[in-house]
Amino acid sequence: MDSRISGFYKLPVEERIQKISELTDLDEEEIQSMKKTGALGTEVVDRMVENVIGAYEMPLGIATNFKINGKDYLVPMAIEETSVIAAASKGAKIARKGGGIEAESTDPVMIGQIQLLDVSDKEKSKKKILDKEDEIFNLANDQDRTLVKFGGGVKEIEVREVDEEELVVHLYVDCRDAMGANAVNSMAEAVAPYLEELIGARSRLRIISNLADRRLSKAKATFPKEEIGGKEVVDKIIEAYELAEKDPYRASTHNKGIMNGVIAVTLATGNDTRAMESGAHSYASKNGEYKPLTQFHKDKEGDLVGEIEIPTAVGTIGGATRVHPTAQACLDLLNVESAQEFGEVLASVGLIQNFAALRALATEGIQKGHMSLHAKNIAIMAGAEGDQVDKVAEELVKSDEITSDKAEKILKKLEEN
Ligand code: MEV
Repeated sequence: MDSRISGFYKLPVEERIQKISELTDLDEEEIQSMKKTGALGTEVVDRMVENVIGAYEMPLGIATNFKINGKDYLVPMAIEETSVIAAASKGAKIARKGGGIEAESTDPVMIGQIQLLDVSDKEKSKKKILDKEDEIFNLANDQDRTLVKFGGGVKEIEVREVDEEELVVHLYVDCRDAMGANAVNSMAEAVAPYLEELIGARSRLRIISNLADRRLSKAKATFPKEEIGGKEVVDKIIEAYELAEKDPYRASTHNKGIMNGVIAVTLATGNDTRAMESGAHSYASKNGEYKPLTQFHKDKEGDLVGEIEIPTAVGTIGGATRVHPTAQACLDLLNVESAQEFGEVLASVGLIQNFAALRALATEGIQKGHMSLHAKNIAIMAGAEGDQVDKVAEELVKSDEITSDKAEKILKKLEEN
């Protein structure tokens, strides 16, 4: 097999698939499964990315019970992992009993970075740049007048010293309801030559920073002790949380659980999941040590209180949210009025997801619930079809031995009968 396919990108989708099927051992069923473009349609997918042969499907579910700042939400989640949506719904139900989730956010400000090299006199250059703030604002804001019209645009600049003879200029851009990467990158590219000339330096990188620490969302919830198994469980959850504070190996998994929820919603709404991941993890290590994105404590009544703060670089307009009909439908379903409100929902989902995971981990462990939900997948993998899936899954759970071996045995017996 030779992976150099001359002119592949120029071929119509159908011919690309044909080419791939000629070059590989994929059978007809596999080719057909890749070819399907679902709600997007072939024309849209072909426009969205390059070398398209089809689309990739993912389960889409709804997390229920979310009440944030007094408003109810049905939260769309696109995810392949069993248990996540169930856990979010269950966790949100408990938070509701504690009065619901409270959330807030900063203005939706993203950062554009301009790297300046060979800066001979940093102090003088810094002053020169700051003196020309108005010119820089105008130059940047000229790149996106629509954003300015809606109240966005560059609001502040900062000049940071990162090395000898090296400065980085930050453009703080209010992106309103857009995620804003395009606007910010255009602004950084437009301002760079002006700065080069102004201070006689060389510019290199001109790009957004995904450490979106000016676009933060916070959420807080109280989980009443009687709803989660009493005082002992509250203490156990706090102990489990504390390991994440002490140990980055645990903090990583702790935050992964948060992102299970956050990314599922980000993906469902056609937002950039990688930007959210990178923002969350870099924010988790903002003080030089990787930390959990949530904190838990016990209040005066002995109830469990959880809090989260994360960067939420997401939009409700533009990008894939506009061209992907399912993403658009998910946003409509979520019914948020702004990207800020959307960020607050994401933070809330992250907090609840984390609470649900900690509660399971601190008590019966994650596998019991997970495996009973996963039993259906195992049944299907063992060959169960139609009605058999539920029957085999049920037997698997009852047997307390959720393995493919056991599923095959159950299926065989079922078929014999
Ligand atoms: C699994 O996807 C996520 C968890 O590992 C998160 C956690 O350990 O907190 C359950």
